[in-house]
Parts: sequence; structure tokens; C-alpha cells
Amino acid sequence: MGNPVTPLEKLETIPRLTLAFAPTPVTELARLRAFLGPGAPKLFLKHDDYTGPGFGGNKVRKLEYVLSEAIRAEADTVVTCGGIRSNHCRITAALCAGIGLRCELVLNTPQGAPEDTASLWLDHLYGATVHRVSSREERGAAMAQAAEFLRRQGRKPFVVPLGASTPSGALGFVRAIAELRQQTPALDWIFHSTSSGGTQAGIDAGLQLHGLNQVKLTGVSADDSAESISSAVMEIRQGVGEHVGAVLGGPVEVDDSFVGPGYGLSTPECEEAIRLLARHEGVVLDPVYTGKAMACLLARVRAGSFKPNETVLFWHTGGAMGHFRAPAA
Ligand SMILES: Cc1ncc(COP(=O)(O)O)c(C=O)c1O
Repeated sequence: MGNPVTPLEKLETIPRLTLAFAPTPVTELARLRAFLGPGAPKLFLKHDDYTGPGFGGNKVRKLEYVLSEAIRAEADTVVTCGGIRSNHCRITAALCAGIGLRCELVLNTPQGAPEDTASLWLDHLYGATVHRVSSREERGAAMAQAAEFLRRQGRKPFVVPLGASTPSGALGFVRAIAELRQQTPALDWIFHSTSSGGTQAGIDAGLQLHGLNQVKLTGVSADDSAESISSAVMEIRQGVGEHVGAVLGGPVEVDDSFVGPGYGLSTPECEEAIRLLARHEGVVLDPVYTGKAMACLLARVRAGSFKPNETVLFWHTGGAMGHFRAPAA
């Protein structure tokens, strides 16, 4: 390519690893729509639960860019963090194993959460070193400490922030919009689960860069307030703009009314959403992220928020491993 002139051409020049099994399929949720009745919009689902390594999920797209940065920094070890059933950590561990980097994970256990999660078991199986802390607040300092310890041993650590939600990680979702637009009719809405904000920032930036400003994007919070997630999304989105030479702005919609009692704690609406998608479509949502996001979409359909001729896409970001425990020893 000659000198990149547009932001999308610039994106093509930014190094990344090819790690995701993409394009991920898009399916129409016709049976769910029929169940919801005549007022329901056309419903589609993008299967980013099928992105491949580490049993798939939204993190693979982000890590294509972030792990490329780690390799260019000549790192030998990736250090990152999450909860004890973190999808991000499990996927990072799998990808590191596949590209020959060591992986160190700082994991916190929310009070009362099970210790024997399938994700933790897989983290060990993929060969990651696990450091345990008792709260979310301790993770940042524990990652810095682990990185410092590695440096003193002559190793080269590369710290990946929570959820790989950096502007370069979000570029993975800018690319995903190019993929999506080949797969669907014109969309009116996209719904997805949001937490550390990188997925939403990337989708939002991708829609703007592809001239799809008419598509309304709603992130449904898995944990934090709408205010704090939307300010994270705007900050990451601005960083995406700086990477590709574009000015990106506009409002960000985060709905935080489906979190229930807290992160990782189920709600009746979440359980209903998981059951409906399984029984009507054979699709498994997860109890921490996508179940709550789908609960929000279902509530809006039932409230008559969409017209029957509108088209809504639900972006399945993965996480079904959250249903499972480690195999018996
Ligand atoms: C399954 C799943 N869905 C959605 C999210 C939220 O994505 P993000 O952290 O990019 O906002 C995460 C990560 O935290 C996740 O693991």
C-alpha cells in the first residue's frame, strides 16, 4: 500500500497477529423473534463466542493487536489480571501458550465465589503462573510487583491492562465492523455486554469510521455505573482516533439497569435470557456478561422500544465457560 490516506487505510498498516477464527458467523434469531411476538424487530446474533483460542470470546480480537505490541517490545512474559473466572485471563493464557510467551495472571476471588472455576483450571493447563489477591483493588499493585520481580530476574514483562481495553486493543473491534458489514442487512441497533469499555469503544469507532452513524449502539453494563463505563469508552475511543488519525466523538449509551446485586451475581432476568436463547436458538449465553445484556434487549423488545421493521444485532461476546467448574481431581 502507498501512503495511507484514510483512517481505515491507516488501520491496515498497524501490526497485529492473526489469532481469531474470523469472520465469526452471524445468525438470524427467527425462533426467538417468533416467541417474542408480532411487535419484535428482526434479530441477529454475531458469534464472537466462536473466536477460537481459549474457548473464544471478545478478547481474542483485542489481543491480536496487544500481543503484537508485546512481541514488538521483545517481551518474554505477559502479565495481566482479572477475576477468578476471567475470560480475558483464560484467553490471554491460551494465546500466550500458542505464540510462545510466558503468562502471569493476577486473579482476585470475589467474596463467596467458587474457587474451582473451569477458567482457573484452564489457566493452569495453558501453563500460566497464577498470583492470587483478595480484591479488585489489589490487582494493579500486584501486577506492578509481579512485573518488577520478573525484571529483576532478567526477564522482559509486558503488562496488559484489565480486559486488554487499551486503544490498540479496541482496534480489533474497528476491524470487526468491516467484517460485520459484509454479513448483515442494514442494522438499526447493536446491543452487547460492556465492562472495561474496549469492546464498545472499538465498535463505536468502527461504526463511525465506516460511515454507519445511523446504527445505535447500546452497551449493557456487567458491573460499573453507566457514567464510569461511558467515560472509559470515550477515553479509549479517543485513543483509537489518535491511532488512525481521526476525530471520534458523540454520545455513548451504557445501560446499567441490569447489573442486579453486582458483578457476577445472577438475576432472574439474566436466567430467563439464558434459558430463552438456549431453548429457542440453541445458543448458550453466560451468567456474568451476555445473559444480562440479552436481558436488557428482551426488556426493550417487550417495552415496544423497536419497530417490527427494525433490525437489531446482539453481539455475543463469549463467557459460557463461566457456567462450568474444574473437572474432579
Ligand atoms: C464475555 C464477556 N463479555 C463482555 C465483556 C466486556 O467487554 P469489555 O471489557 O471490552 O467492555 C467481557 C470482559 O470483561 C467478557 O468477558
